[in-house]
Amino acid sequence: MQNSYKKVAGKHPFLNITATNNNGKNSKRLSKLVTYSPPYSFSSISASFTHFSRQRPSGLLPFSSIYKSSIIDNNNNINTNSIKNTNIYSRFRFMFYYTASSSEDGSGNGSGKEERKSGKILTIDNINPHVKKVEYAVRGELAIRADSISYELLEPCSKYTFKKIVHCNIGNPQQLGQKPITFFRQVVSLTQYPYLLLPENRSKLVTLYPTDAIERAQTLLENIGSVGAYSHSQGIQHIRKNVAKFIEERDGYPSDPNLIFLTQGASSGVQNMLQIITEHPNVGIMIPIPQYPLYSASISLYNARPVHYYLNEEQDWSLDIREITSSVSKARKNGIDVRALVIINPGNPTGQCLPLENMRDIIDFCHRERIILLADEVYQTNIYQPETRPFHSFKKVLRSMGDAYKNFELVSFHSISKGMIGECGQRGGYFELTGIDAKVAEQLYKVASVDLCPNVIGQIMVDLMVNPPKLGEPSYEQYKKEITAIYESLRRRSQKLAVCFNELEGVTCTNAQGSMYCFPTIRLPEKLIKAALTAEKQPDEFYCLAMLEATGVCVVPGNGFGQKPGTWHFRSTFLPSEELFDEFCDGIRKFHREFFEKYRD
Ligand SMILES: Cc1ncc(COP(=O)(O)O)c(C=O)c1O
Repeated sequence: MQNSYKKVAGKHPFLNITATNNNGKNSKRLSKLVTYSPPYSFSSISASFTHFSRQRPSGLLPFSSIYKSSIIDNNNNINTNSIKNTNIYSRFRFMFYYTASSSEDGSGNGSGKEERKSGKILTIDNINPHVKKVEYAVRGELAIRADSISYELLEPCSKYTFKKIVHCNIGNPQQLGQKPITFFRQVVSLTQYPYLLLPENRSKLVTLYPTDAIERAQTLLENIGSVGAYSHSQGIQHIRKNVAKFIEERDGYPSDPNLIFLTQGASSGVQNMLQIITEHPNVGIMIPIPQYPLYSASISLYNARPVHYYLNEEQDWSLDIREITSSVSKARKNGIDVRALVIINPGNPTGQCLPLENMRDIIDFCHRERIILLADEVYQTNIYQPETRPFHSFKKVLRSMGDAYKNFELVSFHSISKGMIGECGQRGGYFELTGIDAKVAEQLYKVASVDLCPNVIGQIMVDLMVNPPKLGEPSYEQYKKEITAIYESLRRRSQKLAVCFNELEGVTCTNAQGSMYCFPTIRLPEKLIKAALTAEKQPDEFYCLAMLEATGVCVVPGNGFGQKPGTWHFRSTFLPSEELFDEFCDGIRKFHREFFEKYRD
């Protein structure tokens, strides 16, 4: 008999529990999944789970209302017996949801008592439940464990064979040593410290800065004033005009600066859009599976409904119109009010670039089904097979389809975080509205005003992204050289990583057509799956955690992005620096070989 409790937050791989109120009263949102493992005795708490906190050993979170349990027996079969059957407790693993609202004395009176005990008005029990529902895998358990290992590595005798964590969990190029584009930083530094631009400093300045960087900083400051002042909430007009010019040159169709919103990275624009679309809790947003968790997390936050559609892994993660058609009709049959379709192109985590024909079909689908298209195009310059899979913007494809689609509603997002720029920390981006009702645009402006303005340095970075040095200007050669070197290196690394993954037993990986990630599928041995279950981890998470502990490489398990049931994946960026790339791949190979050997069926 053992009284060690183990709490696991998150979903169990083999279990999908429907939260059902046991007594039909006082139903509260179920917020946590807890696993207790045998050997275990519940003899002291057999009377009622509703108030069992009276007998709980210290360390266990108190809770007041137990809902429905599910039990997994030792063969991993799922039973949905009532947990009132006390006989099973010592023999079976079981899981149940409980409410976070609790009472120390077991009276079940909930947060009132908790509040009195802790003295806090705001407790984990009474915050916005939608916030608690949010999951964000790229900053999830693996990343948290990686952070704590990095502290352990600072200690004199660390147990690890590696010297540092390699953060492949997030597309954050400069974290892994990518250098910023010189011209961008030169201009920004001058806008931050305009004293350098004074006439009396000019002779010194020209020895340090190229003249086009000086001129650009001056132009920006003439249009901005001080970077320390709030700007227009929609973004500095001069920069929006440059964005519109960039879009016109890219697509060959007009763009209106008044329909461009500069944002704090693409994320905040996506969030503003999702917020404004969510009229009621039954609004459905179609998102790909696998998807970038910004979408699932924001949909949870705004209390909308995710409507999933699967990408086709067998055909390079392509998007099949039949899949989105069946997904929307299923959702609508279930009473979901589907309003928007999210397309990530090039894809994250899947790296696919959509072919033109497919994009036309998607536009046609949205037009027919009266669905707004949200086009996440942050990886538009990260394309590695440009001859066969070039990037096309949805705006261009839409406009090429003629007048029948002139009222089509599209929102397109872009960012300074990706491409060859990788200025993730400067937080800049924009979205362009196409065909969106003017009154809705006004509301978006109001929402943007609540934040006052996007940060001004991020806006300047957007200006530099859309208006880089041109041929014949002093900084052009260096700019071109830097961009090309990063691009070519990313392309080589994308291929190297796919080759490395494809050499691993049980792993298949498609070549990334775009973005910054490989998303291999991994067929795990039964023995490994069982070991994961015993450790109360999802199998892909178990694999990724083991990789982290053995190599220091932090990747993200596929379950954080969504994957077909019964399949396992992980996502890794190919951002580690090229000099270290072979070593990085060797480390993964060695780990994988030994891990698979250990768990071979
Ligand atoms: C598909 C996608 N959209 C949006 C973002 C957010 O980027 P930003 O840094 O511009 O907020 C990311 C970041 O990784 C992404 O992968």
